[in-house]
Amino acid sequence: MALLQVDRMTHYFGGLQAVGSYSLRINPGEIHGLIGPNGAGKTTVFNLITGIHTPTEGGVFLEGRRLIGLRPHQIAALGLGRTFQNMLLWRHMTVLEHVKVAHYAQINYGLLSALLGSHRRYADEAFIEKNSLHLLDIFDVAHYADQLVANLPYGAQRRVEMARAMAIRPKILLLDEPTAGMTTEEMIQMIGIVRKIHEQFKVAILLIEHRLKFVMELCRFVQALVFGKVIAEGTPEEIRSNPKVIEAYLGSEDVS
Ligand SMILES: Nc1ncnc2c1ncn2[C@@H]1O[C@H](COP(=O)(O)OP(=O)(O)O)[C@@H](O)[C@H]1O
Ligand SMILES: [Mg+2]
Repeated sequence: MALLQVDRMTHYFGGLQAVGSYSLRINPGEIHGLIGPNGAGKTTVFNLITGIHTPTEGGVFLEGRRLIGLRPHQIAALGLGRTFQNMLLWRHMTVLEHVKVAHYAQINYGLLSALLGSHRRYADEAFIEKNSLHLLDIFDVAHYADQLVANLPYGAQRRVEMARAMAIRPKILLLDEPTAGMTTEEMIQMIGIVRKIHEQFKVAILLIEHRLKFVMELCRFVQALVFGKVIAEGTPEEIRSNPKVIEAYLGSEDVS
């Protein structure tokens, strides 16, 4: 059984078909790439999988369980983590608080134990603190732990967002343009970080990217989306040399 399976998913915004009959299968531990020019429908695919929008047609399954109709937080709790193209961070919270808060989505205290401040709860909090610091370390932001997120360099903010997504221990992580706005140096560092979390957590990854180099380095399977439709899929080499993909990227500095 596939970890994540999308069957002929279609979505309209009014009269505009943003996604047309999109299908996908990702097995545990795989890294897949989704590329395409601006407006191709990539972010909409993520929003449909994660329950932000409901597809007009088609099915989405995580370990065989149907996700359509579930709320975004329910889908997250089933093991689907994500980051956003435009980072969603709370500017007034510290880096450590960001990652700690994300853990609470996973933990269901009984009302009574919450009221009594049970032993279990203190044990959980100690675990959360320790695990949060560990995640910050992996993403190379531990030295910022007590700083407000707003004061961090842009690349570091993106890494905090990823550390937060990993706090729920997802089985699959959806990354929406993790290198957007980054320098080449930051992008190369991000390639290393994605490799590291993939190996360390055995998490499957679906990666949206504009920069082909990033996708080519990390993914074994890539789909190219144009006007909501998959125009090519295969290995990075097959995608890079596909005439339809080259045409779609023509005139863009990203075809490298
Ligand atoms: N919430 C929305 N309401 C209406 N149209 C939208 C909405 N979100 C995206 N679109 C449109 O859907 C198309 C695909 O957008 P998007 O998925 O953001 O593309 P990408 O992430 O590939 O750049 C675009 O034409 C965009 O304007
Ligand atoms: Mg997008």
